[in-house]
Amino acid sequence: SAAEKDGHDWFMRKEIFEQPRAVADSLIGRRTAAGKLQLDEMRLADEELRDIDKIIIIACGTSFYAGMVAKYAIEHWTRTPVEVELASEFRYRDPIIDATTLIVAISQSGETADTLQAIRHARSQKAKVLAICNTNGSSIPRESDAVIYTHAGPEIGVASTKGFLTQLVACYLLALYMAQVKGTRFGDEIDEVMRQLEAMPDHIDKVLQGAEQVYELARSHVGSRSVLFLGRHAGYPVALEGALKLKELAYIHAEGFAAGELKHGPIALVEDGLPVLCVVPPRGRDHLHDKMVSGIQEVRARGAHTICLAEEGDTSIEPYADHLIRLPGVPVLLQPLVAIVPLQLFACELATALGHDVDQPRNLAKSVTVE
Ligand code: G6P
Repeated sequence: SAAEKDGHDWFMRKEIFEQPRAVADSLIGRRTAAGKLQLDEMRLADEELRDIDKIIIIACGTSFYAGMVAKYAIEHWTRTPVEVELASEFRYRDPIIDATTLIVAISQSGETADTLQAIRHARSQKAKVLAICNTNGSSIPRESDAVIYTHAGPEIGVASTKGFLTQLVACYLLALYMAQVKGTRFGDEIDEVMRQLEAMPDHIDKVLQGAEQVYELARSHVGSRSVLFLGRHAGYPVALEGALKLKELAYIHAEGFAAGELKHGPIALVEDGLPVLCVVPPRGRDHLHDKMVSGIQEVRARGAHTICLAEEGDTSIEPYADHLIRLPGVPVLLQPLVAIVPLQLFACELATALGHDVDQPRNLAKSVTVE
């Protein structure tokens, strides 16, 4: 009923709007009075974490994209090598794992068969398994050595939204905690990143206040046959997740690309009027932003209709954006938490306009318990 959905038409839309709260809840109790990061519930001793020399993240679907973001964060903050792999591929390729490998299994439901089989395989090879999961007592955390629970609350819409954001938060916390335990060079900045994370619920709220603009944009795309999504760095998994949302809900062909890879093939797809959603990284010292802007110029010169997500105050993008959605200014590694929100709203509204059942898309299940 509408009451269960807080007056929204879909659980998914309700869950999108719950994201500021879900992110805030996932940050509660993570710091000691002295300001140190704590992950007590994790059940993995600091000595064990210190011995880890490689991390392999395994997951499916949206959780896999959270894992891709996690790779950028964990490697940057802890200098521990991270691989990210689809659970359904992992155990069939004879992966190299041992007692110093940490497997991080990300699963909203905790019941995904591909992920469960993968962690069983990893444990049989003596690896330690840490689950990041939203469902207390589900199979994946039960069969893992350690767990970080996300605090999204029950997610009912088949397409994951608040589950994804809280997975990102858990991954950032894990990365920061490992940096603290390992005493990396980055250690001094942990406090600052925690403060930036604690500001995210307000930033997400701000993005949600712009929902109507995104809805209008979505409704103007009911005739689109294909949509591309571009991103780079932590914006690349956002592009992939934005495309997945559109496939899942609107049944529109959508693909996400790393913007730097465009010239190596995908740019051949660009033709007049093709909608291209671009996640523009924050302006920084590393030229990432400028390279993204020139990628956007390239597709626009070939006729693409560019829809750009860029931080407030970034005027450099204005000449190349047919449509501009503003994001709060946040560090690049945390940007997925705000950048994915308009893409969720876009897919939800476009699917609604097309008359699809957003909460129960065809052919999909909330948790897939068969391999
Ligand atoms: C299903 C759902 C997806 C989800 C994936 C992984 O395919 O339809 O939305 O991302 O499973 O689910 P998990 O519960 O393991 O995160």
